[in-house]
Amino acid sequence: MNRKLTVAAVLALFAVALVPVSRAAELSEKEKALANPYPNDFGPETLPDDVIKAYPANVQAGYKKLTSNKAGCAQCHSAARPLNSRFVEPEGGIDDAKQDAWIAKAKKDSPALFADGSVWQVETKVWSRYVKRMMNKPGCNLQKADGKAIYEFLSYDSVKRKTGANAEKWAAHRKGLVDQLKAKNPKRYEELKEAKDL
Ligand code: HEC
Repeated sequence: MNRKLTVAAVLALFAVALVPVSRAAELSEKEKALANPYPNDFGPETLPDDVIKAYPANVQAGYKKLTSNKAGCAQCHSAARPLNSRFVEPEGGIDDAKQDAWIAKAKKDSPALFADGSVWQVETKVWSRYVKRMMNKPGCNLQKADGKAIYEFLSYDSVKRKTGANAEKWAAHRKGLVDQLKAKNPKRYEELKEAKDL
């Protein structure tokens, strides 16, 4: 073999060996995220300005972090995935008992919220669990403080935008997204339905 070529080949091998493990892992998490779409992904990647402006300052800060491309929740999939999710975390802050009580009351006052799991999944600490799950993924660039701010946004926003006076509007929006997945990617629709992840 030509000497120049051999040197080039050895250098190329080194370059491959030097790619940090976390970078490769991030790619595969991103690939996983993109290869397996959710109905959420058909929705918008931002919320209207008037919705955001009406939220408290800490909640607005969490929204900005979530939608940041470089280090937010839009690093592996688009921000549409969390923004159009069926997850609703009850009011009550970090107190599980208060969140459980919110659910018990909602079951009496607003039974529709529990009628279709593909529109609303109301669950104590559901966003807390998911933010942690995402932050534990290899290659995730979020810092602990970012995770806290994003969690504060997601839990507040999930009650405001998906329940109460906005419940019907949310149901129409979310059903539209599920219908789009069913029409455009029936295989994935069935897969998510089977896994109770729709
Ligand atoms: C390192 C890559 C990565 C980052 C960063 C990331 N995600 Fe994900 N996300 C994934 C993958 C992969 C999936 C597919 C399902 C799974 O693995 O849980 C997913 C799925 C989801 C889902 C769909 C879950 C369902 O069952 O409906 C939601 C919601 C979500 N992510 C929210 C977030 C939020 C919120 C953040 C920011 C705090 C975030 N993601 C950041 C990779 C990532």
